[in-house]
Amino acid sequence: MSAKTYRVIQWATGTVGSAALRHFIENPVIDLVGVYVTNPEKVGKDAGDIVGLPATGVICSDDIETFIAMEADCVLFAPLNMATTTLDLVCRLLASGKNVISPAGPFLPNKWFPDEAARIEAACRQGGTSYHGCGIHPGYSGDILPLTLTRLMNRIDCIEVTEIIDKVRNPMVYTEVMGFGLDPEELLANPRRSPETYKYFYASMDMIARGLGKEIEKVTVRFEVSKARRDIKHLYGEVKAGTVGGQHYEWTAWVEGAPLIVYHFYWQLGDSTDDLDPLWEQGESRYRVVIKGDPPLEVNLMGGVEEDGRRPFHGLPWTGIVGATAVPAVCDAAPGVVSHWDLGIVQPRGLVRRG
Ligand SMILES: NC(=O)c1ccc[n+]([C@@H]2O[C@H](COP(=O)([O-])OP(=O)(O)OC[C@H]3O[C@@H](n4cnc5c(N)ncnc54)[C@H](OP(=O)(O)O)[C@@H]3O)[C@@H](O)[C@H]2O)c1
Repeated sequence: MSAKTYRVIQWATGTVGSAALRHFIENPVIDLVGVYVTNPEKVGKDAGDIVGLPATGVICSDDIETFIAMEADCVLFAPLNMATTTLDLVCRLLASGKNVISPAGPFLPNKWFPDEAARIEAACRQGGTSYHGCGIHPGYSGDILPLTLTRLMNRIDCIEVTEIIDKVRNPMVYTEVMGFGLDPEELLANPRRSPETYKYFYASMDMIARGLGKEIEKVTVRFEVSKARRDIKHLYGEVKAGTVGGQHYEWTAWVEGAPLIVYHFYWQLGDSTDDLDPLWEQGESRYRVVIKGDPPLEVNLMGGVEEDGRRPFHGLPWTGIVGATAVPAVCDAAPGVVSHWDLGIVQPRGLVRRG
């Protein structure tokens, strides 16, 4: 097998970026050449220090122009969000001859983001480079995973992809921002995940529909909340009994007058009927794909059991790793925006490390 290596820049070292950085340092086919950080406390530190690994000799910097000028094959771009200025940056990186993999939207450019898609495509042409958007969801659990599973079906009636996160066991810093602990009527009137958010996931739905030779006619959205039955403590605070303790977002893509693809997001503080009213989901945080049809199918994607007997939710690290493991495929791809379809079955390199 070829011993080809790839020079990589890690852009930002939050939860997602750190998982990718750790992978790049440990994977022998990757030559880490730069790490961009915004946090002044990280500037000047060795990349290894950021993720608790031995020194690498690569020093973190916040000097954007250094990275634009740097020779590298690929950038894993994981900043806070994809504002206009960050889209400018992605285009500059692409035009400077570096492939870009990004979990920050518009993940897989689609009809809702025509201007962004055109700009990214033009920058790819200028630099002879590729852009690939991916993550755990969107980018994996709601597209490539169910699409792969459709091969096991004789007939498909409906595909449901469900994200289930117990935010007590898997605390997230955004718990309050997302409206937990608010008056239920207040949150129902003003959901923190806007009804437009499905557009960021649309490319994933579209990938399934078109993969089955169908076209999405419309997407409908629904939102409901559950109430905390008692005061519930979580890592970042506490919600009071009677306030929002659970949220369910549901987006349905319709094909030929009926639902074909449904995404559910169940975020709950707890998983017992003593915690929430109503309780929608129980058990470990996970992604679940249910395909209704013949024969019916269900697959649960979850972390392995750890020493404490529980399964941690790896959604954010998976988002970094699914991008990092695509580096060889994206670097070797023809220039332009490359989706899972263009990459085919990605063959990761450097994952089997014995001795
Ligand atoms: N597709 C998916 O499935 C999926 C899932 C989860 C997240 N995401 C996306 O992945 C990205 C990273 O998520 P995360 O959970 O790692 O976020 P995070 O932990 O909040 O980290 C984001 C990092 O961005 C950098 N940053 C801070 N302020 C910034 C600014 N003003 N401009 C640019 N960068 C700034 C910081 O890096 P330094 O600490 O290095 O300075 C920060 O640690 C987000 O865009 C998120 O939406 C996608």
